[in-house]
Amino acid sequence: MTNIRLSSPTMHGKEQYWVDDAILTNWVSTVGANINEVEKLIAERIGVKYAVALSCGTAALHLATKLAGEKLYGQARPNEGTLQGHRVFCSDMTFDASINPVAYEDGEAVFIDTEPDTWNMSPEALEKAFEIYPDVRLVVIAHLYGTPGKMEELRSICEKHNALIVEDAAESLGAQYKLHGEWVETGTLGNYNCISFNGNKIITGSAGGMFLTNSGEDANKVRKWSTQSREAAPWYQHEEIGYNYRMSNIIAGVVRGQLPYLEEHIAQKKAIYERYKVGLADLPVRMNPFDADRSRPNFWLSCMIIDEDAMAPQVRGEQDYLYQSVSGKSSPQEILDAIAAFNAEGRPIWKPMHMQPIYRTHAFITAEGNGRGRSNAYIAGSGIDVGADIFRRGLCLPSDNKITPEQQDILIDIIHRCFR
Ligand SMILES: Cc1ncc(COP(=O)(O)O)c(C=O)c1O
Repeated sequence: MTNIRLSSPTMHGKEQYWVDDAILTNWVSTVGANINEVEKLIAERIGVKYAVALSCGTAALHLATKLAGEKLYGQARPNEGTLQGHRVFCSDMTFDASINPVAYEDGEAVFIDTEPDTWNMSPEALEKAFEIYPDVRLVVIAHLYGTPGKMEELRSICEKHNALIVEDAAESLGAQYKLHGEWVETGTLGNYNCISFNGNKIITGSAGGMFLTNSGEDANKVRKWSTQSREAAPWYQHEEIGYNYRMSNIIAGVVRGQLPYLEEHIAQKKAIYERYKVGLADLPVRMNPFDADRSRPNFWLSCMIIDEDAMAPQVRGEQDYLYQSVSGKSSPQEILDAIAAFNAEGRPIWKPMHMQPIYRTHAFITAEGNGRGRSNAYIAGSGIDVGADIFRRGLCLPSDNKITPEQQDILIDIIHRCFR
């Protein structure tokens, strides 16, 4: 087969027009019509008052996290983060860019286990975390693979404990959630909300991201911080630490050309998900789940998870792996190798943050309480760890919106062969 990617950019032509427009009019820096237009279009589409265009989703998350830290604990000294000395509850099964900004701001991430219904933050585990650390006031919540998490429950727990939410909707642009009976977009569900236009996302600018808010004050602050925190003086004058995080008008041109295709991309991704679901229905596997009554995912990545009794032995080290081929069974690494041999790119499930070497010393809370230190030489069983289990048994399938049904059928056939 020709190369099939996990999720690659899909250009439509108009991107070139707006990039050329930026170049021909000489508006190539961090000011210009493309930036203004994409901020307006995204604010309208998502249903927020303000969208601030930034260089990437990580920058949006950093400034969102810093805003939250400043709101909770006040302005920090220039050499200190706003979260110094404070714990922050964080989604565990996500990309590390969601939660690294807590470290940038000198805070300490405490990881909250995942629930099996949407593969997002577990409300039960979050409730337990507040029992253990009642002083925590900030929670970073991501929507994995474009599937909204249980936001109604998570929001009400946060409200009860007087905590703010940074919402990471980087993977879920265009996904919707039914909040108190009303459909709303992800990217409106936190106190500070972020999206990404990274090259692998459902809409891309080649790079880029946005901070979304209904607060004019917060939007202005993020805009100021993202352009080096300049004050209104004839010379460079600074009252606050600044960042070079603003989106360029060229990147915004790509985003501007892409935005009209958001619905089309979601429809393509949904069709890919449905095709895998039907094609794999006779195997001992399930697709990544979502709550059809309360959410409309954007189906950014299609994933599957192997039933426990159909798992062939597989071990993973820090950088390598081994597996056995067993008749009637398979494993994520076996399937990933099999499809890679046909030039198709899958990926392991994002490795949970509490398992990452960098964060191994940080607390991890499950629905049962403290998720660390549960093993015992003399007592069997070591407690639940939903994230580790999904990582062990799950994988991301090639989900590029340019995959043809014929190519998908070949992939489905290869996966069947792994179980023979
Ligand atoms: C969940 C999540 N958060 C944050 C990011 C970071 O976005 P960016 O690459 O635009 O910095 C990504 C992806 O890249 C992501 O998947």
